Amino acid sequence: MVFKIAKLPGDGIGPEIVDQAVKVMDAIAAKYQHQFNYEFGLVGATAIDKVGNPYPKETHEICMNSDAVLFGAIGDPKYDNDPKAKVRPEQGLLAMRKALGLYANIRPVTTFASLLDKSPLRKDIVEGADLVVVRELTGGIYFGEKGRSEDQKKAFDTCTYTTEEIERIIKLAYEYAAKRNKRLTIVDKANVLATSRLWRETAQKMEADYKDITTDYMFVDNAAMQLIQWPKKFDVMVTENMFGDILSDEASVITGSLGLLPSASVGIHTSVFEPIHGSYPQAAGKNIANPVATVLSAAMLLESLNLMDEAKKVRDAVDASLAAGVVTEDISKEKAYKTSEVGDWLADWIKKN
Ligand code: IPM
Ligand code: MG
Repeated sequence: MVFKIAKLPGDGIGPEIVDQAVKVMDAIAAKYQHQFNYEFGLVGATAIDKVGNPYPKETHEICMNSDAVLFGAIGDPKYDNDPKAKVRPEQGLLAMRKALGLYANIRPVTTFASLLDKSPLRKDIVEGADLVVVRELTGGIYFGEKGRSEDQKKAFDTCTYTTEEIERIIKLAYEYAAKRNKRLTIVDKANVLATSRLWRETAQKMEADYKDITTDYMFVDNAAMQLIQWPKKFDVMVTENMFGDILSDEASVITGSLGLLPSASVGIHTSVFEPIHGSYPQAAGKNIANPVATVLSAAMLLESLNLMDEAKKVRDAVDASLAAGVVTEDISKEKAYKTSEVGDWLADWIKKN
């Protein structure tokens, strides 16, 4: 089959890691007789530098006309310490989420046996942990009204949710839980926030439609604590935008390497697949960044195109590379391989297996 893939490498290490995912996808294409036609789009700081807009219209059109988007990372330190910057790379990411209607961000957190000693947590706590964080992505405080008073001495960000926004993300989370271990934890701050009370009220009404799934409710502060103490307790966790931003970063370090975890953002238009780590500017251009999170994001992308065997092949290739010690410096125990060497090895493994 022929697929159109929007390729948005973005900033920092984005281009190098996306190159490896493309190598892997092309190896899959050759093996299973598919064709992936990539179209490049500018995004993030790179797009600001070139055309003054972190999510240009042309990029949006490329995304809209593609079957899936393969995304690298965005962010540049020159903006991080400049709170007065008028345009920021992150605005590109938020604009893309909104314009594509990507209301759900799915972050699976799995552990890799050979890397358990890299986790900041004790082995017995993390071994076998396997959970998915479902984060609402186009609502809440990220997109609510915000501003500054005239005298500049007061600032505000508002958190808003509608019942429809809550229903669609909870429905999606229930569908995930149904395919997994049938447990859903709804995370909110209903003891304090009105939006959280609407989340809880809405979820409580929906519970009856999913009788075979165990639903529980947890305040976000408690969830942050339990995630570290008993990560194995969780199956699917669903929460609003900012809580999800924070909890999914927390969940991701449990496994021991941020460089391994993929994500999918799905919703109304084309889905976006990207590693959960950032643009790691210190490593940009050095050929040392771990490409695995992006390669596993490509596996999620293949699944979204219903290419299940192909996605499994990519995962098997990653498992084989970890077992063989063909890994970058962030997780290597002996020899550290370069980003491009890991990509070559994975593509070659797919060719031969
Ligand atoms: C993420 C990132 C973004 C977010 C930033 C870069 C705007 O942290 O994808 O989790 O906060 O959503
Ligand atoms: Mg984040």
